[in-house]
Amino acid sequence: MATEKILVTSALPYANGHIHLGHLSGAYLPADIFVRYHRLKGSNILYVCGSDEHGVPITITADKEGVTPKDIIDRYHEANKNAYEKFGMSFDVYSRTSLPVHHKTAQTFFKSYLEQGLLVEKKSMQFYDEKAKMFLPDRYVEGTCPNCGFEEARSDECENCNALYDPKELINPKSKITGEKPVLKETSHWYFPLGKFQKRLEEYIKTGSEKYNWKDNVLQYCNGWFKDGLTDRAYTRDLDWGVKVPLDNAEGKVLYVWFEAVLGYISATKEYFEKQGNADGWKDFWQDQSTRYIAFIGKDNIVFHTIIFPAMLMAWNDGNDDKYLVPENVPANEFLNFEGKKFSKSRGWGIDVKEFLDLFPADTLRYTLASNLPENKDTDFYWKEFQAKTNSELADILGNFINRTFIFAGKHFNGKVPEAKDHAEIDKEMLETIASYPGKIGALIERYKIKDAVFEMMNLARAGNKYFNDSEPWVSVKSDKQKCANTVNICLQTIYTLAEVFEPVLPGTSKKVFSMLDAAPTAWDDCGKTNLPTGHGLNKPEILFTKIEDEQIDEQINRLGVVEAEEKYDEPLITFEDFSKVDLRTAAVLEAEKIKKSKKLLKLKVKTAGGVRQVIAGIAESYKPEELIGKQVIIAANLKPAKLMGEESQGMLLAVDDKDGKVQVVEIGDNVNHGTKIR
Ligand code: MF3
Ligand code: ZN
Repeated sequence: MATEKILVTSALPYANGHIHLGHLSGAYLPADIFVRYHRLKGSNILYVCGSDEHGVPITITADKEGVTPKDIIDRYHEANKNAYEKFGMSFDVYSRTSLPVHHKTAQTFFKSYLEQGLLVEKKSMQFYDEKAKMFLPDRYVEGTCPNCGFEEARSDECENCNALYDPKELINPKSKITGEKPVLKETSHWYFPLGKFQKRLEEYIKTGSEKYNWKDNVLQYCNGWFKDGLTDRAYTRDLDWGVKVPLDNAEGKVLYVWFEAVLGYISATKEYFEKQGNADGWKDFWQDQSTRYIAFIGKDNIVFHTIIFPAMLMAWNDGNDDKYLVPENVPANEFLNFEGKKFSKSRGWGIDVKEFLDLFPADTLRYTLASNLPENKDTDFYWKEFQAKTNSELADILGNFINRTFIFAGKHFNGKVPEAKDHAEIDKEMLETIASYPGKIGALIERYKIKDAVFEMMNLARAGNKYFNDSEPWVSVKSDKQKCANTVNICLQTIYTLAEVFEPVLPGTSKKVFSMLDAAPTAWDDCGKTNLPTGHGLNKPEILFTKIEDEQIDEQINRLGVVEAEEKYDEPLITFEDFSKVDLRTAAVLEAEKIKKSKKLLKLKVKTAGGVRQVIAGIAESYKPEELIGKQVIIAANLKPAKLMGEESQGMLLAVDDKDGKVQVVEIGDNVNHGTKIR
């Protein structure tokens, strides 16, 4: 079979924060395993990634810290690059979207669309923060929904009632950046006509999924988008930070980050080949239709990679002679959570990659994550599971098998591969077993079933241990030296195979084992054979995995922040309308006295804007009447009057039980007028 040419990308992480374990499980580790496997397979593969360095969040982080966006991206680009390296990611290039080569690439695409007459310029009114001197993206404006009164509605849609409205209808708009009231200002933007591509995209995904077995979760997302119908998407933004719109009359406008970030894969490939002194080399990957292109991402990126990016490439191809490839597959993963909850930096829930790798070796983390990838559903990282995987699988199965074989070979065969002959049935079976694994594992990786592949890798180590036990070399060494030699020979061949098939997941360990074997990997398809010749000298074994003590794990668990469980609503729920039926308002307490014969009740005269009324409240055990006079409280003002101990109550006072079981009246300061409605 001819060598396959494969281009692999992983989503470009924002250079606006540290990567965490969830990132690794989503778009990076599975891709790295896929790539390492293909390298061993002999494929001509290029693995491209880099930092996504534009977008509003970066400018906001910079403002918050009083530094420039450049400071932020430099910091996190460096930090993330190092963390990936330490984790063993084998990118061929880790580029940045702030590089000139990227700006130029992104601008060239934009210009081509303009020249093709594809982009539509439209005027619209958008919120502008005069203090921050910037137009506000939708998620940075908050106000009250004109439809349902929900107070955290966005500028043009309400999350609560799903209403869509014109931004000028939003009540009490507030900038989330400065807290100021934004003004509406006219602006104009270019729009990309996604709808024009819907038919072709549907066709593309349909064929792709049939031919290349796209994942169900990805298809479901896409079909959801298609069902809603694709519409025009703003291609530009009013912002200083980003790729400038390459036109004279476009001061202060940049390309929308998603419309350029996806092109970052192309720019990164250009950077790589420029550095190789082969400036046109990138075309070999992006514009040769025999290349297979696989884009690894997390589920939050699906629409950008299965719809927007392919549409952009199709649009380019329509108007230019050079034609780009679209992804053959986009094997998006779901999310990884941490100990049952979402990762949260601010609440101290989770751990940074760098921090983790300062404590434990990369391969132990790679193995744990790879055995539990969120391929079909969200999964969790648990410290205890990490410990169990490391101790009972890596150390007890893989490490132990390799170690005991080496010790045995050192002690009884002079540290050399003994000659095997006259194989018994058990030996033949083991040789067949070894030979069957590389193909089996490879097939799973090729179908993006990485988790299953990792399970099979460990199964080979399990088979090795079992073979060692069943063969009892410690007996045969005394009774039948040739039988013993056969066992040790085959165990060493198994170790050779293990070193290779585990390489994609445990590159550091694999390197050590090859050096212990004093051997190098072969082509993947040959690695299940007897590759170690008789008489081949072995190096001294080293301990491959150290067990993790309970204390080490407890320390990590104890360090975690305390995260409140997400609140469950009490059923039944009421609507906003129901709620607004209750007339809650502030009232000043003018008089208070005890009610005779009642231990609990006080009779109050309270004043709202409309006048004075009498309210009976069960607070006598917590307050002396005189303590209440002058306080401003809250009453339910439209309750039907009721009689309590013969006294009429014309409303209800709001109160709570305090920690000591006493009743506390809800008070409000006197900066509020009497009779003000609570809303
Ligand atoms: N920066 C985005 C994220 O972290 C991913 C961008 S992928 C790209 O979610 F293709 F657009 F670069
Ligand atoms: Zn609403």
